[in-house]
Amino acid sequence: MKNKRSLILSHSIFTADPQQEKVDGYLLMEGQRLLDVKPGTPSEEVLKSVDEMLDFRNKTVCPGLIDPHTHLIFGGSRENELALKLAGASYMEIHKEGGIKSTVRKTREASLDELRHKALKSLESMLLHGTTTVEAKSGYGLDKETELRSLRLIRELPQLQALDLIPTYLGAHDVPPEFDSAEQYADFIIEEMLPLVKKEDLAQFVDIFCEKGIFELETSRRIAEAAKAEGFKLKIHADEIAPLGGAGLAADLHATSAEHLMSISDQDIHKMAASGTVAVLLPATSYFLMVKDFAPARKMLEAGVHVALASDFNPGSSPCENLQMAMFMACYEMKLTPEEILRAVTREAARAISREDEIGQLKKGFLADITVFDAPSPAYLLYHFGINSVCDVFKSGEHVVRNGCISTAAVASLLASRRGAEQ
Ligand code: NIG
Ligand code: FE
Repeated sequence: MKNKRSLILSHSIFTADPQQEKVDGYLLMEGQRLLDVKPGTPSEEVLKSVDEMLDFRNKTVCPGLIDPHTHLIFGGSRENELALKLAGASYMEIHKEGGIKSTVRKTREASLDELRHKALKSLESMLLHGTTTVEAKSGYGLDKETELRSLRLIRELPQLQALDLIPTYLGAHDVPPEFDSAEQYADFIIEEMLPLVKKEDLAQFVDIFCEKGIFELETSRRIAEAAKAEGFKLKIHADEIAPLGGAGLAADLHATSAEHLMSISDQDIHKMAASGTVAVLLPATSYFLMVKDFAPARKMLEAGVHVALASDFNPGSSPCENLQMAMFMACYEMKLTPEEILRAVTREAARAISREDEIGQLKKGFLADITVFDAPSPAYLLYHFGINSVCDVFKSGEHVVRNGCISTAAVASLLASRRGAEQ
């Protein structure tokens, strides 16, 4: 059967393609891919060649949003920490007794069905808020069984809903109670877990929470080097609270990305620029943790660092699936422009998950992942803050969100073609 050809009209197409970043014109897609993006009005010939025309003239059409940092798989929730935070407790104070540890307990106790149901609910919310691809970390099991269960679930999820998932093994998220020290647990990760995760091909990335009192710099280096030798790409939670130098470590090891970076040094900013390591900034986390410091995004951009934005969706420091929240914070707290923000959740976010050759830009040959905002320009999108501006979403050419609602028929068709591609 011939692939369906669709045409989208818009006065505000933000392609994220450096060759033509903003286009007042039209976009053509056929089947799963983009055929063309052009300024001006389509000719009669073009109009005749399409099966469907969608009028988004007063809306902003962007590449499907990419959320390159989430902790998708976890049990329970942590609203009990709110009162502690309001009384002035810091993240690390809460961490001593509860925090990640309490979520690890809940995740171990949860059944696979419960974890699946919870993840599907979050992914549905992400889709309705415009996200089409999401990086998803394990890291709330920490023992062999629960980490593998989390990663296998991440692998299963694209068969059940619309988003693509990029799996990351974050065994080094905290030291579980079975181990006396971070060093001992690092040995277990290196000797047992990395080979197992590799053997089942359960993760593309390995991530480490490099933080004072969690995994110190040298322990983080040891885990990162072993992961690299095992063939994984690297991500590092770096310089979030203490200025430990995790960003410099990420740059030294040519990690794909370093995340958080609120306490990054000037020297490490330059190292990241030189190595091409993407800075994944998580301003919704600073906001939710009630801290005043946001990562120095402007300084990074000026130094030539690739800057991406992510939700950091997790139960402790950012229980929010809506990537637009991070976009608003990036504007009002980090003073990034609407264009810098849109690049950060599309082209740069794709780079942060090593998918920059296929997604994150609206250009010929790329996947037809498209998010449409009910906003006439990028400036209006950031100005009209606090609401969900997403009206339509296309995933691999399927019109999965129509006028704010999920189309179950389009999702079913997408899942059928994924099944077909696997056979
Ligand atoms: O990225 N900082 C480490 N990990 C998460 C928070 C995890 C939690 O508190 O459950 C983060 O913010
Ligand atoms: Fe995180």
